[in-house]
Amino acid sequence: MAHIEWTDELSVGIEAIDKQHQRIIEYVNKLYDNLHDRRAMAEVLADAVEYTESHFGFEETMMEEAGYPYLRAHKRIHDLFVRRVAKYKERFLAGEDIGEELHDTLVRWLITHIKSEDANYSASLIARFGREEAKITKKKKSWFARLFGG
Ligand SMILES: [Fe+2]
Repeated sequence: MAHIEWTDELSVGIEAIDKQHQRIIEYVNKLYDNLHDRRAMAEVLADAVEYTESHFGFEETMMEEAGYPYLRAHKRIHDLFVRRVAKYKERFLAGEDIGEELHDTLVRWLITHIKSEDANYSASLIARFGREEAKITKKKKSWFARLFGG
């Protein structure tokens, strides 16, 4: 599995969150480029973990603000993922060559998470923050219009 390409299918319809997801994808692709360079990988891993954790915090705050009913379940998924990645980091620091396994896990997890769990909060957030605030993408605009008559 090589680089992940951003497509509209990954859009949750909220510009700020799409941009953060794009940045995370860049990290995953950078990890792929440095699979056999331990020093570069250590750096990418540290940056990616920090960025992803703050992104999760951002999403959770948005969901909380919007009164999203499945916030707790979503937060639990985030926490489990953070722990899973921390285990990879431990193995990496212990000298194991985990690059490919980690990259594979990240690609699968990210795509699935964005397309399912993240897509699920989208309507709640858009309803709470409004269409303008969310800066909904063209594709989602028609979907929004169908749902809310906007
Ligand atoms: Fe999420």
